[in-house]
Amino acid sequence: MKPKILVTREVFAEVLAFLGEELEVDSNQADIALAPEVLRERLRDKDGVMCALTDRIDAALLAAAPRLKAVCNIAVGYNNIDVPACSARGIAVTNTPRVLDETTADLVWTLMLATARRLTEAEAYLRNGEWTGWYLKQLLGADVHHATLGIVGMGRIGQAIARRALGFEMQVLYHNRSRLPAEIESPLCARYAGMDELLGRADFVVLQVPYSPATHHLIGAAELAQMKPSAVLINAARGGVVDDAALIEALGRGTIRAAGLDVFENEPRLNPGFLALKNVVLSPHIGSSTHATRLAMAMTAARNLVAALTGGTPPNRVNPR
Ligand code: GLV
Repeated sequence: MKPKILVTREVFAEVLAFLGEELEVDSNQADIALAPEVLRERLRDKDGVMCALTDRIDAALLAAAPRLKAVCNIAVGYNNIDVPACSARGIAVTNTPRVLDETTADLVWTLMLATARRLTEAEAYLRNGEWTGWYLKQLLGADVHHATLGIVGMGRIGQAIARRALGFEMQVLYHNRSRLPAEIESPLCARYAGMDELLGRADFVVLQVPYSPATHHLIGAAELAQMKPSAVLINAARGGVVDDAALIEALGRGTIRAAGLDVFENEPRLNPGFLALKNVVLSPHIGSSTHATRLAMAMTAARNLVAALTGGTPPNRVNPR
């Protein structure tokens, strides 16, 4: 008998076909997030689950799924999963690292450029019929080239963001749990800095840290006050790393120039305060969303799941065996 799995959200047909070779697949191709009680019911007899960051996999859910051996997230972040609770039950947890690094770095740069050059504000102005002609001081923005970029969290995605900055001849500061070796720093022309220095000097502060209790509200009112009034904050990492209410206040007061945000507290119910602000560029958690990358992420999760349930070693296990 094939092991039984649940795929909680819509995935590409080739991914379902791959899974179906080895596993008995129950899948939610309607692509509406399963209500917690429906998820619990459909996991009751499953050996594995391929899930998304919209699925909360907690201890209560695990208790109702006694056969579960693998939880394979289609995301690099896995703060939607109670990993210690999985480990306590011997359940493998996997993520999808690497395949999304470059695509996510592109989106961060999209937000940086769009925010600096007020692109969404400019487009709204044009669409609203407000454009009556060219004038010298029209929609003045900020330069990205030769500015100082401060990256908080210099993992693979942070490094991909820094690599792009070379072409813009930016100065790159970074802050990380630990300083990177010279072989990584040197080609990126990146200099390690304390958080205070980075916040005080950067023209663009880019957050690229995972969400955890340690990074909850890493950027709040005090940190925003440390930034330059001309600075821009970019967050395409996780909601909750920024205190959204404090950011809305800071954007409204002009404590900082602008923000570019792909992630929010309480997604998808973002704080309505953002919608009233012109100096924020917003996108709906699409950092990794290109066809090629989302397919690669889903295939990575599928390979992890097949390995976990057929006696192999899942390549991207995040908890110890
Ligand atoms: C997306 O947010 C991811 O963690 O992959």
